[in-house]
Amino acid sequence: MLSSSFIWYTIIVVAVLSFLHGSTKKKKLPPGPRGVPILGHLHMIGKNPHQDLHRIAQKHGPIMYVQFGFVPHIVVSSPQAAEQFLKTYDLVFAGRPPHQAAKYLSWDQRNLSFGTYGPYWRYTRKLCTLELLSSPKISSFHAFLVEWLKHAGLERISVDLSAKVSSLTTEMSCMMVFSKKYEDKDIDERGFKVVIQEAMKLAAIRNLGDYFPFLGVLDLQGLTKRVKALSKVFDDFCEKVIDDHVRDGDQGGTKDIVDTMLSITQSRETEFQFDRRHVKAIMLDMLVASMDTTASTVEWILSELLKNPRVMGKVQKELELVVGLDRMVEESDLESLEYLDMVVKETFRLHPVAPLLLPHYSLEDCTVDGYHIPKHARIFVNTFAIGRDPSAWTDPEKFNPERFNGSSIDLRGQHFQLLPFGSGRRGCPGMQLGLIVVRLIVAQLVHCFDWKLPNNMLPSELDMTEEFGLVVTRAEHLIAVPTYRLQK
Ligand code: HEM
Repeated sequence: MLSSSFIWYTIIVVAVLSFLHGSTKKKKLPPGPRGVPILGHLHMIGKNPHQDLHRIAQKHGPIMYVQFGFVPHIVVSSPQAAEQFLKTYDLVFAGRPPHQAAKYLSWDQRNLSFGTYGPYWRYTRKLCTLELLSSPKISSFHAFLVEWLKHAGLERISVDLSAKVSSLTTEMSCMMVFSKKYEDKDIDERGFKVVIQEAMKLAAIRNLGDYFPFLGVLDLQGLTKRVKALSKVFDDFCEKVIDDHVRDGDQGGTKDIVDTMLSITQSRETEFQFDRRHVKAIMLDMLVASMDTTASTVEWILSELLKNPRVMGKVQKELELVVGLDRMVEESDLESLEYLDMVVKETFRLHPVAPLLLPHYSLEDCTVDGYHIPKHARIFVNTFAIGRDPSAWTDPEKFNPERFNGSSIDLRGQHFQLLPFGSGRRGCPGMQLGLIVVRLIVAQLVHCFDWKLPNNMLPSELDMTEEFGLVVTRAEHLIAVPTYRLQK
C-alpha cells in the first residue's frame, strides 16, 4: 500500500498540471461553500455524505454546487428543485456518470442502473419492465414467504431480523430473476449478503479515480483491485446461472428473464450488440437492485415500529380488522391496509434507502432557476434532505404516519417531497414489485408476531445509526424477540 504522503503529493502534482491546462470561463453557477484548491469540497464529506450534504445545503440553498476533485456536482435538496431536475429537464439529466466501480461490476456499465442513456438503455429498460416486473410473478413468492414465517414462529427466541429479512429477500430475488433458489455458497463462501453489500459499499466509496481521472490507473486506494476481485466472483456466479439455464432450457416450464435475454443474444434482432456480457450485467443488476433495497426498507420500517409501540399497535389493530387472526395476510389484503401504507410512506420520508438516488449526469449544458448547470456534472438529488425540508413537512424530525391521513402525497414519483424511488426516466422500474414485497413482509411479520426488543431495552434506546452505501442500512443489526399471535 502506498504511503499517504505519496498519495497527496501525486494529487497535488496532477492538480497543478491540469490547472495550468484548464480554462476557467465564469458563468453563474449555483451557490456553494468555499472549496479548497485541488480537493474542492471532498474534505467536507464524511462517512454519511447524505447527512453532510443536507447540513451544508441548509446554508447554501436547494440547488448547490460542490466540486469533488475536478468533478462538478450539483446537490438538489428541495421538492421544487427536484421537480426541475427530474421532470422539467428530465431528459437533460437522464445520464449516468462514468463510474470506476460500476465499470468493473457491470461489464463496462452494460447494466440498466449505470447504463449510458441511449437506445441500449431504452431497450433493456423496456425488456426488464415487461419481463420481470409483471404482477403474475409477484404473487408466486407468496407460498415461500409463508413457509419461512411459520418456521421462524417456532423458534420464539431473539431473532436477528436484519439477517432473516436479508436472506428472505435474497431468496425472493433469486427466484424472481433466475426462477431458482441459489444458496449462499453458490456465489462465494461469504454468501450473497456479504458479497452484494460489499459491492454496494465499493460503488459508494469516494474513489479518487472518479474525481481525479488521471489517478484512476494508479489505484491509490486499492479500490480497483478489490472491485476486480469482486467482479470475478460475480462473473463466475453469472456464468453458472447461464449454464444452468442453457442446460435446463428444453425442459419446458415458464421462461424467465435470463432465458429471454439468452434468446436475444442468438436472434440478432437488436440494432446494438447484445451478448453474454449484457445478459450477465442485467441479471446481476436485477439481483443487486432488488435485494438490499427491499431488505433495508423492511429493516427501517420494523425499527420505527419497535421504536414507536403506539404505531405498532395501530398497525396490528388494522391487520386484525382487515385480516383477522385465523389466516395469514395475502397480497390481495394489501390495498385495504391504509394505515400500513402511511407507515411505509413515513419511513421512506425519514429513511429513504437510496438517499442520493443513483447519480444523475447532465448530458448537456442547462440553465435551472437561473443557474448554469454544466454538461457532465453529476447530480445528487438528496431525498434525505427533501424528507426533512421544513417548508414541505411540519415537525419533520417526528415519526408521525398520521401526517398522511387524508393527504394525496404518494411515493410513486409524482409528488416531489417524497421520492424514495426517484422520478422520471431514471426512476425505479422495480417500484411496484418493491412496494408489494416490502408491505407483504412487514404485514406478515407484524400480523403473525408480537415483537419486543431484547434484554428489556426501551424503545427510545434503539440505535438508529445509518451506514452509508448505495443503499443505506442500519449500522447495527436489528434484533427482536417474536411471540406467535395467530390462532392457528
Ligand atoms: C423498496 C425497494 C426499492 C427501492 C426503495 C428502490 C429505489 C430505487 C432508486 C432510488 C433508484 C434510483 C432512481 C434514480 O436514480 O432516479 C432505483 C433505480 C433502479 N431500481 Fe429500484 N428500488 C427498489 C426496488 C427495486 C427492485 C425490486 C428492482 C428490480 C427487480 C429495482 C430495479 C432498479 C433498477 C434497474 C434501477 C435503475 C433504473 C435506471 O437507471 O434506469 N429496484 N431504485
